[in-house]
Amino acid sequence: MTPQATLRLENKDYSFPVIVGAEGEKALDIRNLRNDSGFITYDEGYGNTGSCQSAVTYIDGEAGVLRYRGFPIEQLAEHSSFIETAYLIVNGELPTPAQRKRFSQLLTENAPIHSSMEHLFEGFPVDAHPMAILSAMLNSLGCYYPHLATNDHARDLETYPETAAIIISKVRTIAAYSYRASRGLPYIYPRRDLPYCENFLHLMFSTPYEPYIALPEVAQALNLFLLLHADHEQNCSTSTVRMVASSGANLFASTAAGVCALWGPLHGGANMAVIEMLKSIHAEGDDGTKFIEAAKVGKADTRLMGFGHRVYKHYDPRAKIIKDSFYSALASLRIKDDPLLNIAMRLEEAALRDDYFLSRKLYPNVDFYSGLIMRAIGIPENMFTVMFAIGRMPGWIANWKEVAANPKGRIYRPRQIYTGKTVRDYVPPHQRK
Ligand code: CMC
Repeated sequence: MTPQATLRLENKDYSFPVIVGAEGEKALDIRNLRNDSGFITYDEGYGNTGSCQSAVTYIDGEAGVLRYRGFPIEQLAEHSSFIETAYLIVNGELPTPAQRKRFSQLLTENAPIHSSMEHLFEGFPVDAHPMAILSAMLNSLGCYYPHLATNDHARDLETYPETAAIIISKVRTIAAYSYRASRGLPYIYPRRDLPYCENFLHLMFSTPYEPYIALPEVAQALNLFLLLHADHEQNCSTSTVRMVASSGANLFASTAAGVCALWGPLHGGANMAVIEMLKSIHAEGDDGTKFIEAAKVGKADTRLMGFGHRVYKHYDPRAKIIKDSFYSALASLRIKDDPLLNIAMRLEEAALRDDYFLSRKLYPNVDFYSGLIMRAIGIPENMFTVMFAIGRMPGWIANWKEVAANPKGRIYRPRQIYTGKTVRDYVPPHQRK
């Protein structure tokens, strides 16, 4: 029998089923609350709200656990690659060798973009932010594949494996072209012989007269960065993708919306904000001590970027993995005595000893290190959040599919508590004060 919970409201008892997840997390199923009682729940920021049931990613924020499709992130980081992990997230299982080969073929075939799409980049101002370009281009991409973007979920699901591969492959080309457009550089075509990360670095940094050959450590650092960002449960951008998908929208449109949600500094923009923060600390001649004091005032604009997380309350398991790989990438790139790096290490050390941060359970998150890694491998700062978007694509795609394939799915439509004026009469312009 389904366990029940009882809620007493205005002297009346209401009974609600308790849902238990695969890992034992418990939730009150309040779907009938408003119908039965007239009440709704209020949970600004959704910290206590389960918006869906999902089989993609499991997080235990208290214990610092992150698993994709049941596999611990530590095992995937050690043994898998971004592309194999992307397949896992998008399709639910690790690929057999034949499936892996077919997936690679699809990615290779779909790496170039339509030549008429190249001209779209020219419509943007040269200093346009690559995140704006990426979102616009992903949405435009659907126009080149109208049969894959029908806004009829049943039909869009039939072509899901092809659409997923197209987006995962082309997002890398679009991202690199948005960078090249912003620098006035000619477009370089993808190569059939290069793996995903090496090909991306080639698209970014090769010139018509000199190929860019990535150091294995650099390609590996990028691979790990993308793998660690591949999904993260119901964060702001993934929830946005699901929200858009719930209206029946296609995969191109839904992931384009995810890019917009990711852009903000409290989400994907944090990796860029970390570097900006370190630069400004350096420019002011501070070693981080003054900044730490200012961050403790608790104002949004002086926060210690790269610290804190809505769900991780002891440590971010991704931060632990990326920190180790960061040091090996730095060693192979022979980077030492970087002033920003030194400030970052001092900030981390000081914050981890400070009661303000400890009592609020504020620890370094993945973005504290990922901006430094991107910087070390030569990715320009305004591309950092774009890199996060490339990494998060498999997660957005898998979440879109769950919404599209849910036979009982309803459009996402939260309620609100209205706090505005109560009813009043229209005032003609000449009577207004
Ligand atoms: N620096 C200083 N104080 C902080 C910070 C910080 N980075 N983060 C939270 N606090 C304080 C906050 O002022 C509040 O203090 P008090 O209880 O005295 O009012 C307390 O800690 C709780 O903060 P909150 O805003 O309720 O926490 P939240 O769960 O709403 O926010 C967060 C989570 C990640 C948005 C926030 O910690 C933050 O702004 N961090 C900096 C930005 C950042 O690094 N974001 C990347 C997140 S990881 C990437 C991803 O998964 O998207």
